[in-house]
Amino acid sequence: MEIIVAGTAGFCFGVSNALRMINKLIEDTNEPIYSLGPIIHNEQVVESLAGKGVKIIEEPDGNLSPGANMVIRAHGVEPGVYEKAEKYKLNTVDATCPYVKKIHQLVKEKYEQDCQIVIVGDRNHPEVRGINGWCGGTAYVVDSVEDVQALPGTSKKVCVVAQTTLSSDRWENINECLKNKFENIIKFDTICNATSKRQKEAAAISKKADVMFVVGGRHSSNTQKLFEICRQYCGNTYKIEKSGDIPPLDIRKIKKVGITAGASTPDWIIKEVIDKMEELNKKENEISFKEAYENSIVDLRSGTIVKGRIIGYNNSEVFVDMGFKSDGIIPMEEFTGEPDFKPGETLKEGDIVDVYVVKVNDGEGNVLLSKKKVDAMRSWEKIEESYENKAPVKAKVIEVVNGGIIASLSGVRIFVPASQVSDRYVKDLKEFLNKTVSLRIIEFNRQKRKIVGSQRVLIEEEKAKLMDDVWKNIEPGKKYNGVVKSLTDFGAFVDIGGVDGLIHVSELSWGKIKHPSEVLRVGDNVEVTVLEFDKDKNRISLGFRKAEDNPWYNASQKYRVGDVVKGKVVRLVPFGAFLELEDGIDGLVHISQISSSRIGKPGDVLQLGQVVEAKIIEANYEAKKINLSIKEVNPIEIPAVRAGADTAEEAESLPTEHKEETPVTISELVSGIKIDEQASGQESAAEPQ
Ligand code: F3S
Repeated sequence: MEIIVAGTAGFCFGVSNALRMINKLIEDTNEPIYSLGPIIHNEQVVESLAGKGVKIIEEPDGNLSPGANMVIRAHGVEPGVYEKAEKYKLNTVDATCPYVKKIHQLVKEKYEQDCQIVIVGDRNHPEVRGINGWCGGTAYVVDSVEDVQALPGTSKKVCVVAQTTLSSDRWENINECLKNKFENIIKFDTICNATSKRQKEAAAISKKADVMFVVGGRHSSNTQKLFEICRQYCGNTYKIEKSGDIPPLDIRKIKKVGITAGASTPDWIIKEVIDKMEELNKKENEISFKEAYENSIVDLRSGTIVKGRIIGYNNSEVFVDMGFKSDGIIPMEEFTGEPDFKPGETLKEGDIVDVYVVKVNDGEGNVLLSKKKVDAMRSWEKIEESYENKAPVKAKVIEVVNGGIIASLSGVRIFVPASQVSDRYVKDLKEFLNKTVSLRIIEFNRQKRKIVGSQRVLIEEEKAKLMDDVWKNIEPGKKYNGVVKSLTDFGAFVDIGGVDGLIHVSELSWGKIKHPSEVLRVGDNVEVTVLEFDKDKNRISLGFRKAEDNPWYNASQKYRVGDVVKGKVVRLVPFGAFLELEDGIDGLVHISQISSSRIGKPGDVLQLGQVVEAKIIEANYEAKKINLSIKEVNPIEIPAVRAGADTAEEAESLPTEHKEETPVTISELVSGIKIDEQASGQESAAEPQ
């Protein structure tokens, strides 16, 4: 079998030029691009451009924002479109074929010279509508001898032009008729050279071919004309859009196959047709064309799952080749359930996908497919397996419903009752919306299409495991990183990994605090040390203060015997006064060290809050004791300083409630020691001297 391919097949200059312009615009801008009608009459090219964001509009209007990119295709448009584009301040990219533009100028000029314009062509074709616009829509449009006969007469000079893709034969016939109808007539053969060459070559090939293929878009006017020409000479002429449309034929009876294509048919589609024919030709001696064709396609049945290769997509559909005579279409809502799915970011031509055959023929010859159904089937299988194995599944929460939440695993809905969402009380289930959760499937019923999941079970299991680990490895002195779970008056509860331990308030700080909230907040991450634990009572005592933060930690360097220091009177007792040297360190001034003079009690000469200088006369850092002397710094008698008294006499006369002195217990009087837990957290005691 000989395959004859027309040298003129494929894109003409005007189409190549328009595609070059729109592709350049796609490269140069990130802004939306609007094409005034499909840029060319070829669905594959238009879909590919749609995948790159080119949107098709019917006409420019106020919905487009100023500066929006609008492309005028090769067919050209009437002047009103340019005016609208200017009115809405659009960035117009004019891809009108120069040959068509020439017709616009010619028609405009002759119309202004008061000629009656006649256009020979298809009145519904956008090119013809555009040309008519340049004579104010007054042209007579004729496409047949009958049309000419129906025209009214005119006294004007008649100027005749042709649609660029008109066949030469029709042009000649109609002109013959027009000449008989109108006396004063001038004709301009505006049939595009590319068109006439293509038509002549197609006619020549079809005269000698047994089978002729005309490849081109369904709506392509020039492809239709080529088809009509070829059919005149070859009864077996087929108009096809792609290689998959080649009909089954007995190849052994075919000696010559001719292939031509319309001006808007991409080279790769023509090549696929040639390749397919060559492939079938190879099998010529073995089996018939029909058999070979049928062998080359996949037997498709509705309700089955097959593999397909993505060959294109736009925002609403994905196109898949399954090796079947027709390509498959997956509507985007059947591709995925993801509402935010962005085809341009996720899909790749050439990717293999499993698809479910919904219909072998959707009425337009396409196979209707669904990928979502395959995903859902797989999800049901996966969920069932997880249910049997008790394995967790991950699903995204998509809805909050009465009594719980709905999580989705590839489109399969799993109900999680509110009580199974967490091991804690959840005030508002919306906090889980759009989050991915791990679930244990606790109920699975395929017949009733019911699946129930629980997150709580997994959380509790995880906690039990962690708790077990903690109890197995816990020992005094071991450090843990934990999280503060709650605060009470007596301390802070800290989760150290499944088990809560308590930091007693006295373990929170070396200084004096009234409440744990002065040191910690719920949710804080803390390092704690195990002080002691009792597994049977489920109790763990934790330490939080650090030794180096203890004010006594380096007291031996800061407070040496002989140093003179300043201190604030914080307690008065019968045997002396306690001076606070810093937060957590108090020293005792024995009553005998307060003044050179004899005093009855410390309150006679000192008052709470008073800051005085004193000398360190003795220190025992381990026992946290520092003994001080005021009189060694200031041997002179200290005047009475009680609150509200300027002199000792005045002080004596003050009422007793003004005398600030801490009551002392019997045991203190006996031992001379006052226990002050608040002062240092330990025994802040002083020996009587
Ligand atoms: Fe232009 Fe001729 Fe093509 S008019 S668009 S070059 S068929």
